[in-house]
Amino acid sequence: MPKQVDLSVELAGVKLKNPVVAASGTFGFGREYGQFYDLSQLGGICCKGLTLHRREGNPPPRIAETPMGILNSVGLQNPGVEDFISQELPELRRHDLAVIANISGDTPEEYGIMCRLLSAAGVDMIEVNISCPNVKAGGLAYGTRPELAAEVTQVAKAHSTVPVMVKLSPNVTDIVQIAKAVEEAGADALSLINTLRGMRIDVNTRRPILKRNTGGLSGPAVLPVAVRMVWEVSCAVKLPILGMGGVSKGEDAAQLMLAGASAVAVGAACFADPYAPLKVRDGLAEIAAVQGLDRVSALTGAVMPW
Ligand code: FUM
Repeated sequence: MPKQVDLSVELAGVKLKNPVVAASGTFGFGREYGQFYDLSQLGGICCKGLTLHRREGNPPPRIAETPMGILNSVGLQNPGVEDFISQELPELRRHDLAVIANISGDTPEEYGIMCRLLSAAGVDMIEVNISCPNVKAGGLAYGTRPELAAEVTQVAKAHSTVPVMVKLSPNVTDIVQIAKAVEEAGADALSLINTLRGMRIDVNTRRPILKRNTGGLSGPAVLPVAVRMVWEVSCAVKLPILGMGGVSKGEDAAQLMLAGASAVAVGAACFADPYAPLKVRDGLAEIAAVQGLDRVSALTGAVMPW
């Protein structure tokens, strides 16, 4: 019988009982998934992306299936940061897991205000989203230019008393350049990758399937891109990484950890199977046990060079 593996990991000083986190935008605030199992079984949750004020999101259609993936153009629909703090956070706090608030702003100042409110409210970490491909202002505009990525990071850090993790976009020529700028600006951790910009067209109507034309691609199709980018970034910066992109089983998570991630987020897979994060956790534990590891954290960055 394989021995017990210590699944606990640390991400910028935040202790996770296991390396599996629910990815932002795929798990809401946990309420629906909490009907299936106790959320305390997760290492953490990255909450649905918050903005300073409530947003209705983009008009439908805003979701389309793709081979091995999903294209979304949700547009940051959310109740606003204050509603999250009063309505959702107390509910989440009833469970034993790390609560990571994901935030997007139209301006650096908005990021600062949200960081101040969320730090005071007692979230464990803030994920600063500079990579949403589905909004006009903010979002990707900050994540594709090193100087703007650095500015948002500095403002977020200046207004936070909890660790700040910056979520990077794959829609750039050189993700390492952005990662380095964010590291120099004082980030405590990085999460990557957000979705890849994509498009589908209905050949009969000749219209784009998404109302906003383009969206962000996630799901198993993007895993090799995520593994490559986590590996490149982890070779170039010292910050801990939350790896994500197409994880649906333990082997996928193990690849991201070998590439350099300290923990992994499970996203699109949750839509097809609410238990996906738990299956990823168990699959990862089995791989570590079969490989004779005492701690799953021994996988981090352990990819062997040719
Ligand atoms: O459209 C959305 O709400 C997606 C957000 C993101 O990818 O960060």
